[in-house]
Amino acid sequence: MISITALAPCPPYIQPMTTENNRAAWIEGPSAQCETTPEPALVPWRLILLGAPGVGKGTQAEMLHRRLRACHLSTGDAFRASGTRADCNQSPAMKEALGYMRRGELVPDSTVWAMVRERRSCLNCSGGFILDGFPRTLAQAESLRELMDAEGLGLSAVVNYSLPFNEIVTRLGGRRTCEKCKAVYHITERPPKGEGQCDHCGGELFQREDDRPESIKVRLEAYERSTASLIEFYRKQGLLVNVPAKGTPDDIFEDTFTQLEAKRVREVARKVLVAQADRCE
Ligand code: AP5
Repeated sequence: MISITALAPCPPYIQPMTTENNRAAWIEGPSAQCETTPEPALVPWRLILLGAPGVGKGTQAEMLHRRLRACHLSTGDAFRASGTRADCNQSPAMKEALGYMRRGELVPDSTVWAMVRERRSCLNCSGGFILDGFPRTLAQAESLRELMDAEGLGLSAVVNYSLPFNEIVTRLGGRRTCEKCKAVYHITERPPKGEGQCDHCGGELFQREDDRPESIKVRLEAYERSTASLIEFYRKQGLLVNVPAKGTPDDIFEDTFTQLEAKRVREVARKVLVAQADRCE
């Protein structure tokens, strides 16, 4: 099996995120512990966010985390964090993965799955989870389903964000990320208060390597080729919640939250009806 993180111990380079949970167990790997663990939720939210690169999944994941308490688990963030480690602390599989990312291509399923499997305790987190950027292929979705079935975990919903491609390109081209706390900005839509500087921690803002026009094109093609088919996969399982990603982040968040709550209410009502029918038999 490919080991992604079982090399040298990671330095504590991950600064607290824009949320109170630093997600260390996800970002740094299983040898690290999160600074705080969320309060156990009575019925934890276990969500997957789907949508093309740049549609706003990361932005919404942070907002959902604040409301639902579930942890934001982004495979892209975990890969990028590995990229900041000293070269000698990167496994060959990780070095290869970073090359795929730079070009905008998908990292091979075996590498992605090895990384997620190593971090499977995060899927069991008592506060729930919000998966962002995973799964991205049918093979990844099948592996996740098998693992969750084996652990007795159910998905609450899969949120599918959609936006016309020309607007996605504008969002990606203007994105800036804080080098320290990873907070995300947009140069015109969500600009920081001070130019080039993070509002939260004062860190320097940078443009992601894969946000260059040539990589954006490759990423959007990879999405169409490999990830779009997941929409049908989850629709058939009755898990899909469709949310148009136009408008402000707040509007999109409210739409998402309203639909998720409505779905949960419908699920509870359905379970009550099934239980009543069972009693009548
Ligand atoms: P990853 O990090 O997952 O990137 P992505 O899916 O390409 O998504 P992004 O982070 O680019 O966009 P987003 O939808 O989160 O948008 P954001 O909120 O930032 O993956 C990167 C790479 O890692 C992949 O290409 C691949 O190589 C590899 N990888 C990762 N997981 C993998 C897997 N499972 N399998 C294989 N390979 C994998 O928003 C974008 C911008 O828009 C920001 O500037 C934001 O401020 C702005 N914005 C957000 N919402 C709004 C709004 N409503 N109005 C205006 N602007 C907005």
